[in-house]
Amino acid sequence: MSAAPAWLSTLVVLLAAGMATQPATGDGSASPGACRRGVAAADCADCHAPIAEEWAHSAHARAFTEPRWLAALATLDRPERCHGCHAPEPVQGRLGRPPAARQERRDAGVDCAACHVNRSGIAGPFGSAAEGHQPDADPLFTSANAVNLCASCHDTRIGPVLPLVRDWRASSFATKGHGCIRCHMPREERAIAFEPSTGAATGPVREGRSHELLGPGDPDFAASAFWIDVARRGTRLELRIRNEAGHRVPGLVGRVFEVELTQQDERGRDAGRDLIVLSADNPLFVDETRRFRAVAAPGGRGARVVVTHAFAGQRTIVARHEFSW
Ligand code: HEC
Ligand code: HEC
Ligand code: HEC
Ligand code: HEC
Ligand code: HEC
Repeated sequence: MSAAPAWLSTLVVLLAAGMATQPATGDGSASPGACRRGVAAADCADCHAPIAEEWAHSAHARAFTEPRWLAALATLDRPERCHGCHAPEPVQGRLGRPPAARQERRDAGVDCAACHVNRSGIAGPFGSAAEGHQPDADPLFTSANAVNLCASCHDTRIGPVLPLVRDWRASSFATKGHGCIRCHMPREERAIAFEPSTGAATGPVREGRSHELLGPGDPDFAASAFWIDVARRGTRLELRIRNEAGHRVPGLVGRVFEVELTQQDERGRDAGRDLIVLSADNPLFVDETRRFRAVAAPGGRGARVVVTHAFAGQRTIVARHEFSW
């Protein structure tokens, strides 16, 4: 394995010094700009191209350039108070509290350093011996503990944001230690670092996680939030929807899931339609199973349930289930 260049360790030492001198309650302006250059996502990409590529497709990479966010900022007198989570300094100095705002490279959004940089360098789950990287495995990067990383930004009610980490902490997922990354960053087996000049892997194949960060914009992932069943009980139909996500669904003000139940009559024609709208005002709570009852179409033999996700003027069908009896 070829060693990382010496500049990396130098920059990380500078960076750690910068973090150490930064006041805990500061707005980030105290951190010297020179130190920050070493942790631009583009720099990490030199050796971590596949992970950097995944991250570039994630909502975290767009956190400061997303048009809806820019539009919301444009209406505010003091938009700086919104910057902390959308262009953060590393969260590890203030775990669980909203991060300080970064003064440089804001367009990089929630960058690599936001999660990985701590006082001793760059931390991760394995403790691999790369220069400039923290030498010990950091227990913060396990499924149960990484929730504390996410909590800095995903546990506050501000703008359209809802406190999803609070939901999770009170749920069966917390009891089982099934943290946010278990669902949002699926397992991926591969080498994690590459020599920039040759592209050759500089370490073994490891069991890591995708940095693409699955969200409700991925229809299959959105569908995995629901377990759905329809049964006929005498003259009534019962629809049951169980929340399979680690928090309330939907998880952002403005997002809506429509669950449409359509019955078929004895000839298989559509007969009767019911619509259940899940929104921030009427979410499916964590661990909840909701039951809806409808009058069964006489002689009816089946029903169809279609789940549609609606957001920002776009409607996407995420799941379709057929039931018969
Ligand atoms: C405590 C951290 C935090 C602060 C401070 C914060 N946000 Fe956010 N913001 C988030 C998170 C986390 C999300 C993503 C939530 C989701 O997708 O469920 C988000 C998403 C958004 C979105 C939705 C973007 C999209 O893709 O549609 C808008 C708009 C937004 N924030 C506006 C604001 C405004 C305006 C402020 C200041 C009043 C602000 N935010 C301050 C954490 C924060
Ligand atoms: C000069 C190449 C190089 C650069 C630049 C680089 N890394 Fe690494 N990184 C490595 C190597 C080599 C490994 C070890 C790979 C292995 O052993 O499988 C590694 C491992 C890691 C790990 C896993 C740590 C662990 O063992 O738990 C993380 C996380 C990481 N890097 C993040 C970053 C971040 C964030 C940046 C940018 C601030 C960055 N790296 C920049 C070469 C680099
Ligand atoms: C430094 C703040 C910060 C941290 C730490 C953070 N997030 Fe986010 N996250 C955001 C912001 C801001 C957005 C909204 C980006 C946008 O849509 O503009 C977001 C969006 C998301 C989304 C929505 C994705 C989508 O496609 O809509 C998911 C899921 C998510 N984050 C999960 C996580 C998880 C899991 C962790 C912990 C491993 C985490 N976040 C850590 C700030 C953060
Ligand atoms: C058991 C799987 C699972 C776990 C654990 C989980 N999530 Fe999710 N999450 C989902 C699914 C499925 C969705 C898509 C449904 C939705 O958007 O509400 C989602 C959606 C989201 C969204 C987007 C919400 C929106 O409507 O914009 C954010 C942000 C998010 N999760 C953050 C987190 C955080 C932070 C944690 C840890 C506290 C976490 N998730 C734990 C499955 C999970
Ligand atoms: C929202 C927080 C977050 C951001 C942003 C983030 N990571 Fe990670 N990263 C994690 C977590 C959590 C893990 C541990 C995954 C696991 O269990 O293997 C991880 C693991 C890693 C690893 C070890 C390999 C693996 O898959 O576990 C490397 C290397 C890495 N990250 C590099 C990067 C780089 C490079 C960037 C920016 C392009 C980045 N990360 C951005 C949270 C983040």
